[in-house]
Amino acid sequence: MLRITTYRQLPRITCSIRLVEAVRFTSTTHVPPIREVSTKQKDERGHANLGLPKDQQNSQKPGFKIGNMSFLDIGTRVYNNQGIAEQDDNKFTTKPAYVHADFTETGLQNVDLAHHVPKTLGDKVSLNLTLFCRHCFDLVTGYKWPKTNDPNEFKGTRWEMTESKWLTRVIFLESVAGVPGATASFLRHLYSLRMLKRDRAWCETLIDEAYNERVHLLTFLKIGKPSWFTRSIIYIGQGIFTNVFFFMYLLKPTYCHRFVGYLEEEAVKTYTHLLHDMDQPGNLPLFQNMKVPQIAVDYWPNLTQESSFRDLILQIRADESKHREVNHTFANLDQHKDRNPFALHLPDENKPQPNSGLDVVKPAGWERKDLTL
Ligand SMILES: [Fe+2]
Ligand SMILES: [Fe+2]
Repeated sequence: MLRITTYRQLPRITCSIRLVEAVRFTSTTHVPPIREVSTKQKDERGHANLGLPKDQQNSQKPGFKIGNMSFLDIGTRVYNNQGIAEQDDNKFTTKPAYVHADFTETGLQNVDLAHHVPKTLGDKVSLNLTLFCRHCFDLVTGYKWPKTNDPNEFKGTRWEMTESKWLTRVIFLESVAGVPGATASFLRHLYSLRMLKRDRAWCETLIDEAYNERVHLLTFLKIGKPSWFTRSIIYIGQGIFTNVFFFMYLLKPTYCHRFVGYLEEEAVKTYTHLLHDMDQPGNLPLFQNMKVPQIAVDYWPNLTQESSFRDLILQIRADESKHREVNHTFANLDQHKDRNPFALHLPDENKPQPNSGLDVVKPAGWERKDLTL
């Protein structure tokens, strides 16, 4: 039989001799031992060195904090700080094609959950499709949104989130999140070419969004190594999702932007949950003293080599909140007549208008009547 256990990471596959039994998901509370991290032991970038004696701090070999997992383990392996440093390969590094906006500290802290109340049939279809996808993904990967403030609510159950499970989740989600912006901007680009018309700056923001999501993914790939199983699901999932989104965008672009807006609502929820989990004492120790990969330092203006993993997640959550605002706004606009108010600013505009920062925002999207178009 093929038996899948969640193992407090993602499911891992183990074999058994019994022949006829279905694939099933079970959980165990066993986890590989993790060395305690002393906050006093820091390396030259201010990060802890996994509790190694000082004379050994610089000799720790690149590798994983958890593992050695076998081929049959399908959780994501988490790199140690030396492993992350080794991943900081600048061979193919270029300057970011789309410079990231400079988010203020207040703006970062003020990011919160928000919901666009569905009004049209398209809104309702988009919302229910998003929730359906999310519930299926949560069920399969062993994730639950906490219902109480008890940090031990899911302790020892298959819903408990470990560093490995978090990384699997965000790597999968970011691999999907980069598709809509790229597909939508590609289609709008073609429309502009064949109709001999200006695009009114929509392409810019959409391709910027796709680039931003890919940097999220590349950053997480410096921190964790997904298994063959995760890679396979991503490979197949992209083939299906990209084609469906492509044809849906040709037919109903407003539905698609609303769908992405709702997906981004869920992304903000997920990262808010991760931040909350990290703030619990003793929780997710592998993330507590982790180095921020160089690719992230080079991309986000507010990150430095001294930034923490938490700082990184705050930036990524803010990006998701911006995607949420942009896509809900786009869904409210005339797709071919209205300008993109996030990129195309009008001179001498007195009333507040959207921009790429975090200080003037409408998290559930700007209504068309409030915009000068
Ligand atoms: Fe993202
Ligand atoms: Fe996003």
